[in-house]
Amino acid sequence: MKIIFLALLLAVADCITETGGTSQRLVCYLNVQATNRTGDGAFSLENIDPYLCTHLIYAFTSDIALNSTSFGPTQIAYDKLLAPRVKNPKLKIMASIKSEDLKWDSSKGIENKVNKTVDYLKKYRLDGLDIYWNMSSGNYPIVNFFTAMRNAFDRHNLIFSLAVFTETNNDVMYFMDFVDTVDFISVLAYDLWRSTQAFWEANHPAPLYSNSSDGRTIDSLILYWLEHDTPAAKLNLGIPLYGSSWTILADGKTEPPASATWGPLNKHVNQIGQTPYYDICSSVKSSGWKVFEEKSNSTGPYAVSPADPSGSRVWVGYDDVHMVTVKSQYVRYVRGLGGATVWDLSQDDCRNVCGKGSYQLTAAISRTLGIPRPKSSSSASDSKQSSLSNVIFLIFTSGLLSCR
Ligand SMILES: *[C@@H]1O[C@H](CO)[C@@H](O)[C@H](O)[C@H]1NC(C)=O
Ligand SMILES: *[C@@H]1O[C@H](CO)[C@@H](O)[C@H](O)[C@H]1NC(C)=O
Ligand SMILES: *[C@@H]1O[C@H](CO)[C@@H](O)[C@H](O)[C@H]1NC(C)=O
Ligand SMILES: *[C@@H]1O[C@H](CO)[C@@H](O)[C@H](O)[C@H]1NC(C)=O
Ligand SMILES: *[C@@H]1O[C@H](CO)[C@@H](O)[C@H](O)[C@H]1NC(C)=O
Ligand SMILES: *[C@@H]1O[C@H](CO)[C@@H](O)[C@H](O)[C@H]1NC(C)=O
Repeated sequence: MKIIFLALLLAVADCITETGGTSQRLVCYLNVQATNRTGDGAFSLENIDPYLCTHLIYAFTSDIALNSTSFGPTQIAYDKLLAPRVKNPKLKIMASIKSEDLKWDSSKGIENKVNKTVDYLKKYRLDGLDIYWNMSSGNYPIVNFFTAMRNAFDRHNLIFSLAVFTETNNDVMYFMDFVDTVDFISVLAYDLWRSTQAFWEANHPAPLYSNSSDGRTIDSLILYWLEHDTPAAKLNLGIPLYGSSWTILADGKTEPPASATWGPLNKHVNQIGQTPYYDICSSVKSSGWKVFEEKSNSTGPYAVSPADPSGSRVWVGYDDVHMVTVKSQYVRYVRGLGGATVWDLSQDDCRNVCGKGSYQLTAAISRTLGIPRPKSSSSASDSKQSSLSNVIFLIFTSGLLSCR
């Protein structure tokens, strides 16, 4: 009897490692400027759920901050930033720097720059550095720099990652030679609807499959990387925790693509045409916004506000719980990618203002990717409590389905 049980346990353990071979990362950016928001948008570092993500990346620091005792423009002390790792020692905490802050002009100082970076990361007990890449190809000393970073980071057991914008495939091409030097690449597959028409037509900002008028979809971007020999396990799919908004003038149709002008300024994120998810779900819940679901699993829904006195309405396209779940299933099962990356935690419903659980979207991604969560740390979104036998049964049956 004991032997059978042991064998079962071993089989289960085997299956866990086997099924866990892909989609093991959930990289969560936190825009630290969110800590300066007030009112409905207020965000406190104490709100961070330490078990939701595998990597927490604070954005952004600049190279001045590489010699500073506090982080970024918000001047947060490192002890506060590292607190989630005290609760969950497996959580990796990284800093992100924008590529434009790397100051490429001083190309002769690569070794010095790398040393300073390593010193900074060690001094403040960070686990690694992410570069938020938004630069077209050019004459930057990237190969040397990335290789030097990799060598130094390996010596110090640090993580080095890249987040890439997808505006032109040439940029992507430019990176193909550097894949070996990074631990993972977050493909920021959102804001796809960015051509000049974007100012005049409301449309889904991050479609998985359907046509985004200029022909780009998330799947085509991911396939592009895979077809250029990027290992799937290195890729993370970027998922937005915000919607893109437009203004539809009086009597305009709302079905996308819809004639529109650029959306309103959101006072929390201080961006035109960007609406955090918590603002969308609370507008739907309490301000009479109407949601239009898409029947296919290609794009998320859009929501439309009631008309203002001039007759114009706000239109916002976004990913809801269903769509982020479909995207996470795509990551895990369709393309077998390394994981997902969200921008950014502060725009999720982190304070449960919509009553569907805190961090609704990120929690759905975390569950779908199978990010482990200790039993004792149930979140508001863990509505289905499983008994141990249910868990074993579940692992066992999923093992039968997916283990050799
Ligand atoms: C770091 O800053 C200190 C004082 O703020 C300065 O003395 C030191 O030279 C700086 N180090 C580097 C490498 O820039
Ligand atoms: C955020 O708030 C801190 C403290 O109130 C202040 O020092 C800092 O300048 C603010 N940063 C930004 C970017 O507004
Ligand atoms: C960088 O660090 C390495 C190893 O600690 C050292 O050998 C090298 O001299 C340093 N380079 C600079 C420019 O400080
Ligand atoms: C990327 O850089 C360009 C030009 O430097 C800037 O206009 C654009 O806003 C940046 N995009 C993002 C998402 O940071
Ligand atoms: C997508 O849209 C573009 C531009 O409107 C068009 O040229 C292309 O044929 C469309 N592709 C598909 C698969 O519908
Ligand atoms: C959409 O996705 C859900 C969840 O993965 C799945 O149950 C459903 O069958 C899908 N629908 C279509 C039309 O593919």
